[in-house]
Amino acid sequence: MPVYAASPLHMIDLIRKKRDGGELDGREISFLTAGAADGSIPAEQLAAWLMAAWLQGLTLDETRALTVAMRDSGEKFSPRGLGRVAVDKHSTGGVGDKTSFLVAPLAAACGLAVPMISGRALGHTGGTLDKLEAIPGFRTALTLPEFEAVLHKCGASIVSQTPALVPADRALYALRDRTGTVESPGLICASILSKKLAAGLDALVLDVKTGSGAFLRRREDAEYLAALMVATAEAAGTRTVALLTDMGQPLGRMAGNWIELAECAELLRGERPAGSEDLRELSLQLAGWMIHLGGKAATPDTGYRLAEAALAGGSALRVFLEMVAAQGGDVSVFESPDKFHKPGATLVLESWQSGYVAKMDTTALGWAVQRLGAGREKTGEPVDPHAGIAFHARRGAKIERGQPLATLYASRAEMLAEPVALLQQAIRFTDAPPETVPLVSRVFARDDAETYLRNAVR
Ligand code: URA
Repeated sequence: MPVYAASPLHMIDLIRKKRDGGELDGREISFLTAGAADGSIPAEQLAAWLMAAWLQGLTLDETRALTVAMRDSGEKFSPRGLGRVAVDKHSTGGVGDKTSFLVAPLAAACGLAVPMISGRALGHTGGTLDKLEAIPGFRTALTLPEFEAVLHKCGASIVSQTPALVPADRALYALRDRTGTVESPGLICASILSKKLAAGLDALVLDVKTGSGAFLRRREDAEYLAALMVATAEAAGTRTVALLTDMGQPLGRMAGNWIELAECAELLRGERPAGSEDLRELSLQLAGWMIHLGGKAATPDTGYRLAEAALAGGSALRVFLEMVAAQGGDVSVFESPDKFHKPGATLVLESWQSGYVAKMDTTALGWAVQRLGAGREKTGEPVDPHAGIAFHARRGAKIERGQPLATLYASRAEMLAEPVALLQQAIRFTDAPPETVPLVSRVFARDDAETYLRNAVR
């Protein structure tokens, strides 16, 4: 029998197939991804397919094929030469979420490599790279050989995405941003995981946020995304777990750029400041899982204890400072973090009511932080390293009228009014203490994720 070459593919057929509820096969997904990466498929056809995918949803097989094809669409980083197991953590984004500065040195101090490719502020949430760039001289745009050299030296490095890494996501993400097709579990999963898996990870810990400051506020949406990402990353060969964690209030007591690093430096020095308990606890739990999945501890609990010892003994602080120095940062600013903090304008917001702090609209708090200057209005604008908010009361705290609730920092006094109004609308008091919310409400490992997806009705 003659062997015929596979028939050519046409983007219009793929759009119509998805529009009508069909499932694309691996070859079709690869064609689409390659065309997005090299620009050979026009933007209007990609946008039409994205909207069809948003409306019809992606099947599990399509999500897996898209993740792998996007991962392989450009240059990749190989940690094989490092001689250490490579692990990472990814958070779906929150307010005051600074665990990367703790978990990366903790896992590295326990003998793992943490090649962390991070992002900038997105919507109401802060960006790891913007925070690190508050350190004078710190370089986030390293070449892959420079990234590898820092990893060799320190065990951890936090950098920005290079133009050649996962080009299919660059093209598709920019279109999704402009066509209302961001909030799709399959597309989010492929976008996040393709970038993480392009770093050649052996293991990945996902921190999936839920609550008023999360992108996916509804618990069932966060659970579905967590299960989908775990099952997809596992199918691609990376051991993965997801922790479902509370974002019903900012994590820790600082939200901004430099002040978040200063809070982490206190914890890395072994201090236990009031208001930072949840940040310390979540970082130890995430690091515990990284250390366990990376093969350095038989259980996540043992991993937690190893991470705790690295915090108490100062080895994580040493890794962090070595990493800062290796990426060009001036470590002397960590000697007196308060002296380095020089906001142009400061305002202490006093409570306008007595009672228990019961609810926070954490997305509004995040916008307040961004509008103080910690975030940007337009892509490419500089951010203010000193802007942000120090929160003096956590959910459940009993407060008297006139007691300080928060301190706001900006470069100019006129930037304070709108964030103050946002805080006044965002924080609600009650006469009785509110119910406590668990910091980590669920953990999805591979089997839980597969069972969840089998039973999920979408
Ligand atoms: N972050 C990403 O990188 N991609 C998404 O789709 C959403 C959040």
